[in-house]
Amino acid sequence: MLIYKKVSVFVSAIFTLSLAPSALAQQAPAPTFAEHVAPIIYDNCVECHRPGSIAPMTLIDYETVRAWGPVIKDRVEQRKMPPYFIDKTVGVQSFEDDRSLTDAEIATISAWVDGGAPQGDINNMPAVPQFQDNVAWTLADEMGRPPDLIIPIPEPFTVPADGPNWWMTFYSETGLTEDRWIKAFETKPSAEGFPVVHHAVTSMEFPEGGGGFLSEYALGKTADINPPGTGQLIKAGTRLNWNVHYAASPDGLDRTDRTRLGLWFLPEGEDPEHELIRSHMADNEDLDLPGGQEVIRTDGYEFLDKNIRITAFQPHLHNLGTRQCLEVIYQDNRRQTLSCADWDFGWHIAYNYTEDVQPLIPKGSMMHVTSWFNNSASNPWAGDSRNWVGFGQRSTDDMSFSWISYYELTDEEYESAVADRHGQLAAGSD
Ligand code: HEC
Repeated sequence: MLIYKKVSVFVSAIFTLSLAPSALAQQAPAPTFAEHVAPIIYDNCVECHRPGSIAPMTLIDYETVRAWGPVIKDRVEQRKMPPYFIDKTVGVQSFEDDRSLTDAEIATISAWVDGGAPQGDINNMPAVPQFQDNVAWTLADEMGRPPDLIIPIPEPFTVPADGPNWWMTFYSETGLTEDRWIKAFETKPSAEGFPVVHHAVTSMEFPEGGGGFLSEYALGKTADINPPGTGQLIKAGTRLNWNVHYAASPDGLDRTDRTRLGLWFLPEGEDPEHELIRSHMADNEDLDLPGGQEVIRTDGYEFLDKNIRITAFQPHLHNLGTRQCLEVIYQDNRRQTLSCADWDFGWHIAYNYTEDVQPLIPKGSMMHVTSWFNNSASNPWAGDSRNWVGFGQRSTDDMSFSWISYYELTDEEYESAVADRHGQLAAGSD
């Protein structure tokens, strides 16, 4: 599996073809829970599918996993679970925190369900993973201290046991009296709120206007250290804007949450080599999404007057969105798709490129974002799909843009980064 993840896109495509799932299923005896399936589920699912966490059912013991078998098979084959929706067939393929299953893991789960979901030898069961502390700052060890600044949502928020999904907007004052550079950040629901916080997105509002995207929390992906040599500017007097998705607790209890954002700064007086920017790109605010239409496409463009290095891509759509692609159109008219990802409004996921493949884009290029929407009854998130929908702030309105994390490169830095990349390619790495 490790080897699979490391080989290049081209090699892995061939590898997958030669090990097509049906061939595996015919030749090998059916996989068993103890030997084959439990290790996949324990590594990739139980962080959310365990008692006290956010998912509707636990996936720990054999009987429960077996009972859910056909639904699990369906969700993993469609790549709806685990939630990580990057398209594996196009664009850049190497990401930090990639939680998706490999084709081989999906084939194993499917073959297990199709083969009658046998238990196997329970002596071979892996140990159930332990998740002891939902609220500790996981970066504290690596950063050598607790966060330098902790900013909670303004008031505790209670999610009733029978409540619907809530998308809350909150504002918190940071109380910062001077500009600082952010090195790392981590978002944490409170202990009691942990099972009801599905995601929390923060952005900064500077006192004189402007600001930018700050962080995205979803269970299993709570913290980020900015790439080496970069920092993100937070200005004195900044106000924090929170967008939090709450859903009723799977254990049937009312839950009160007070999610916090922890920030670690660069030492005072130390400037990073590059300012990391997280910003909207290629917004299209002229949306026309007629009722009853299943496939609607929109396009947005953004001209770059600087060279940039892209570190992350995060689609942003609302209820009706189904998919987004990010493409670059170079000045010589070549086009390259950088990434495509399916969209589910229940999950806001940032796809962080690994350093060796972060797209290097020359100035004069056009970023092109294509989004697809489904305003028909086949979209479970659509309200009344007879209604026309346009652009707006409410989640019942829609939006279309990408959050792009990047930093600018001088011409010299750009040339040297491109030369390094050619060197890597020549040396046969990804
Ligand atoms: C980051 C948290 C998370 C991870 C990781 C995760 N799930 Fe889920 N899962 C959820 C949540 C929350 C739901 C319910 C909401 C939804 O469907 O988005 C869910 C729903 C499901 C459902 C559908 C339940 C239904 O009632 O229809 C299945 C099946 C499922 N998950 C299987 C898995 C499997 C198998 C894995 C691992 C390979 C996995 N999940 C990993 C959070 C997670």
